Amino acid sequence: MSAHGSPLIELRGITKSYGGVQALADVGLVIEAGTVHALVGENGAGKSTLVKILMGVVHADEGDVRIDGQLVHIGDPQTAHRLGIIAMYQEPTVFPDLTVSENVFAGRHPRTALRTVDWRTMRRETERILAEFDVDLGPDTPVRGLGVADRQLLEIAKALSSSARLLIMDEPTAALSPHEVDNLFATVGRLRERGVAIVFISHRLEEAEAIADVVTVLRDGRHVATSPTAELPQAEIVRLMVGRSLDALFPKEQAEIGDVVFEAKALGRRGVFSEVSFELRRGEIVGLAGFIGSGRTEVARAIFGIDSLDAGELWIEGRPFRPRSPMAALRRGLAYLPEDRLQQGLVQPMSVSKNVSMAVLQRLTPGGVLRPRRERRLAQRFVDQLTIKASSVAQVVKSLSGGNQQKVVLAKWLAAEPRILILDEPTHGVDVGTKADVHRTISHLATQGLTILLISSELPEVLGMSDRVLVMREGRLVAELSRAEATQERVVRVAAGVEAA
Ligand SMILES: Nc1ncnc2c1ncn2[C@@H]1O[C@H](COP(=O)(O)OP(=O)(O)OP(=O)(O)O)[C@@H](O)[C@H]1O
Ligand SMILES: [Mg+2]
Repeated sequence: MSAHGSPLIELRGITKSYGGVQALADVGLVIEAGTVHALVGENGAGKSTLVKILMGVVHADEGDVRIDGQLVHIGDPQTAHRLGIIAMYQEPTVFPDLTVSENVFAGRHPRTALRTVDWRTMRRETERILAEFDVDLGPDTPVRGLGVADRQLLEIAKALSSSARLLIMDEPTAALSPHEVDNLFATVGRLRERGVAIVFISHRLEEAEAIADVVTVLRDGRHVATSPTAELPQAEIVRLMVGRSLDALFPKEQAEIGDVVFEAKALGRRGVFSEVSFELRRGEIVGLAGFIGSGRTEVARAIFGIDSLDAGELWIEGRPFRPRSPMAALRRGLAYLPEDRLQQGLVQPMSVSKNVSMAVLQRLTPGGVLRPRRERRLAQRFVDQLTIKASSVAQVVKSLSGGNQQKVVLAKWLAAEPRILILDEPTHGVDVGTKADVHRTISHLATQGLTILLISSELPEVLGMSDRVLVMREGRLVAELSRAEATQERVVRVAAGVEAA
């Protein structure tokens, strides 16, 4: 094992383009053993591409990689693995139909003398690793049904079961609660002590600052700076990332708040949430806060007709509404941007313009004839408004960077011109510059009469954008706070059940 602080991996002149898109240009980087190296940059800056090159998933057009000073050729993921390079991707890649221990040893099962799979060793090793990292999972637990946090811990267990020397984490915390983030960071700390090098990618700069020893900034595929974290203040990181200083996030415009347009009365879904009642007014932005698992997403899904309700009533613009299906909800002017974009939000092999227009096809096809030009124009408007980085509206969504995919989902629902819009983690995976664009767009739409229910785990976002904040805990609505009452501390205490509302 290399000593702490000695160069483990060295990249020189790494260049990669996809057709006309220059994803990486002449990037050089040294990653040292026993250090946490944050990699930051705007959506589409090239971070995930760099990860994929180190993992042997994508091949660089030019440049070399050295490990312990030796030139290596990482032609495929098996080679990366053999060299001790492990990655946790933006979306966990565990196999849901296998158990925990089968996942930990996926693709490299230990064998007995008779060449059959050595289940006993597998189970024992899995138990040892899970115990070492305080992971409360049994080796035989099926992975289907585990939450994102557990799946991520599983990825780490996978990393530990092999002798990892470099662990790459591509936005590992995007879907974690504060407590789970703490656990993850403790684990990262232990790996660092063992001399493992960690590359940490995140759009939450406070996290990068808290955990990383060194920060590297990429911009438009180029290396801009590498510096010890302590010597690079956050504002400076932002400036290096976006090439300008940012004015305030959460630029909330004052909207005129009108009549009640949406009422939820005593909504319930057995075992998930109950007695959820609230009202939304025209032009109002209402935040829905609470920890992950408190039932926020579940309420939104039931209102939009994805899951069924067991109890309660909904009223839209003074008329009763029964959420039978998302199409029925859309017809009543209600739209929902789901938290899980890859599963529910997008059709990956289709173009940006097809995805954007999907929810408004009826409007674009008067008399049953599709108007491709109208479709493209609609998409182009949102590409400009949300600064979606794509070579054209014809680019397939699959080849966009993670954050840009998220923007396409948002565009799709904005294009439907709903009167009531439920946004579930709308800036998950979105860089700081774009976040401000998204906030500006949302706030502006509210001034035009759109009503927004904003679900977000980022409290500053909820507090900055909302006229009113609802707080959920364990399937119940436990507080309603005015903009003035809703401070970060108060919301956290109510959400955690430390303080009654
Ligand atoms: N398979 C592909 N085909 C075409 N272009 C691609 C492909 N993969 C990535 N790109 C482009 O390369 C650029 C860099 O993408 P990358 O995924 O590395 O960005 P990122 O820094 O990880 O962004 P994010 O923060 O949004 O995850 C983007 O412009 C993206 O559209
Ligand atoms: Mg990425």
